[in-house]
Amino acid sequence: MNATINLEKHFPVLLNELVSIISPLYGGTFIDCTFGAGGYSKKILEDNSNNIIALDRDNSVNSIATKLQTKYKKRFKFYNIKFSDIDKIKEDNIKAIIFDLGYSLNQISDLNRGLSFKSKGKLDMRMGLNDFSCDEVISKMSEQGLFKIFKYFGDEKYAKQISKKIVQLRKNKIIETENLVEIVESIKKNKSGKNKSTKIFQALRIFVNKEITELINGLIKAYNILPIGGAIVVVTFHSIEDKIVKFFFKEYSEIKNSSRYLPKSITAKKYFNLIKKKPIIPSSSEVRINPPSRSAKLRFAYKLENGCDFKKFVNNFNYLKDIENLNFDV
Ligand SMILES: C[S@@+](CC[C@H](N)C(=O)[O-])C[C@H]1O[C@@H](n2cnc3c(N)ncnc32)[C@H](O)[C@@H]1O
Repeated sequence: MNATINLEKHFPVLLNELVSIISPLYGGTFIDCTFGAGGYSKKILEDNSNNIIALDRDNSVNSIATKLQTKYKKRFKFYNIKFSDIDKIKEDNIKAIIFDLGYSLNQISDLNRGLSFKSKGKLDMRMGLNDFSCDEVISKMSEQGLFKIFKYFGDEKYAKQISKKIVQLRKNKIIETENLVEIVESIKKNKSGKNKSTKIFQALRIFVNKEITELINGLIKAYNILPIGGAIVVVTFHSIEDKIVKFFFKEYSEIKNSSRYLPKSITAKKYFNLIKKKPIIPSSSEVRINPPSRSAKLRFAYKLENGCDFKKFVNNFNYLKDIENLNFDV
């Protein structure tokens, strides 16, 4: 992927809050699963007892990674892989694994990538290391499939009408970014709010990048490679992601009983120490300086035990993974 813009204009979100959580663990390796413009990595590397292993699926961040490699030598390593492949990392002294989900400002504002409804031309939306791009979904996915994507990944009230119109119009022409915006606006013409296409674009980005599957597999594998005492820290930007992360930490940090009439089981294991049940959100001054941070939520927990099977977690979100696996080669 080619970046055509200033690569380092992304503001790291909730950086001070992140540092206050992980600084007691300083003196070891931190995995930055979503390197982006490197804001988190750079901050953690300022303490010379720390090493960073950084991952990103988008190879347009290579140039930022190369600069850090030159500056910090062996203390910094970068891999252009998806975080669902985090188990490929072989490292003993991992202190924390950090996810800052979604897109960097660099990616969204690079209009060639078609991630934003402000783009023009071909619908792309690939973050990197993808199997297909958005134009294939829009031109081939069944009406019912499009409906599910818009409803479940975008919570779009007009999912049915929008999918129907896409299927009608694609018979006569290739639907490009501006056509998709027109379709949405024609259906939501009486609705207020300026960015009527936001939900549809979010839904398609999630589908094209298999973001739900990535998150579920990434969290489980992060737990598997993390030593006891290490932290998992996750910053999310929309409600589906936050629901998944909240369930992951909460379900395995509480002792559950098979019956509410039985005394609390003393054999049930807690796999996480969850210090705060509520997410940490940006201060009003951070939102003023960096408006996209307004929807960020940070959750974190420390690993207490090995051996969690995460069956309930996986089953609970299978309905979303099934939508990401919809076949559209018709
Ligand atoms: C919000 S940005 C991270 C910004 C970073 N924390 C900083 O301070 O500059 C998210 C980054 O994660 C990457 N990303 C998203 N999903 C990923 C995945 N499944 N595997 C690897 N990288 C991913 C994106 O390509 C993007 O560069």
